[in-house]
Amino acid sequence: MGSIILFGPPGAGKGTQAQRIVDRTGQPQVSTGDMLRAAVAAGTDVGIEAKGYMQSGALVPDEVIVRIIQERLTEPDAALGVMFDGFPRTIPQAEALDRIETIDAVISIEVPDDEIVGRITGRYTCKSCGRVFHDLHLPLPKTGCPCGSFEELRRADDSEATVRARLETYHAQTRPVAEHYDRAGVLHRINGVGDVEEISNAILAALGVE
Ligand code: AP5
Repeated sequence: MGSIILFGPPGAGKGTQAQRIVDRTGQPQVSTGDMLRAAVAAGTDVGIEAKGYMQSGALVPDEVIVRIIQERLTEPDAALGVMFDGFPRTIPQAEALDRIETIDAVISIEVPDDEIVGRITGRYTCKSCGRVFHDLHLPLPKTGCPCGSFEELRRADDSEATVRARLETYHAQTRPVAEHYDRAGVLHRINGVGDVEEISNAILAALGVE
């Protein structure tokens, strides 16, 4: 089995859906956003380089991203394919990936821009387990986080101004990546507006997972 890509604009629900899909496919989730945030928090060379780009809503340079992906794919749990979340985001990243990994399917989660700002400015996650919540759409259950030790985390780049910059970056540099995979015959477009569970089911059906 090859790898799967979850593709879409910021706030499309890639992280939300990735957690549900990997529970079923068993593949590890490989999120370049999460890897970069961990590098920023740890103060590594990659983190120091990435921080300014992330804060302004721009993309981190391709060579940095391709290097961290190449390293990640050498880890034993990646041997049977992974679920990429937020990668690739430029045509050069997609072309680099074509050279190192087989891609079985690309799931494009489609959400219009006017829905996205509200989704991102209302987002919070559990620092302990990474589960994603939303002030209105997906609040923390009254019984608390399923992991049992909830600690609220809000991202530094989730302000309204930065979300608008991230959307501009997406339209200019990332959206053409969908056409790249459409031409390769592996792109599945999924409506990302509506019930989270129904969207998960549509993704699983597109992947042929029972
Ligand atoms: P990254 O962390 O990848 O952020 P993103 O792509 O902007 O995506 P998000 O994590 O914001 O959104 P998501 O689609 O995962 O949505 P979520 O599930 O959380 O990247 C951050 C930065 O790192 C980039 O700006 C860039 O600088 C850098 N970077 C990362 N990868 C890079 C790369 N490959 N190349 C270069 N630079 C890179 O959902 C959002 C909210 O909506 C949540 O609150 C959720 O509860 C809610 N929600 C989810 N589904 C629904 C639904 N169906 N209905 C209502 N609400 C919903």
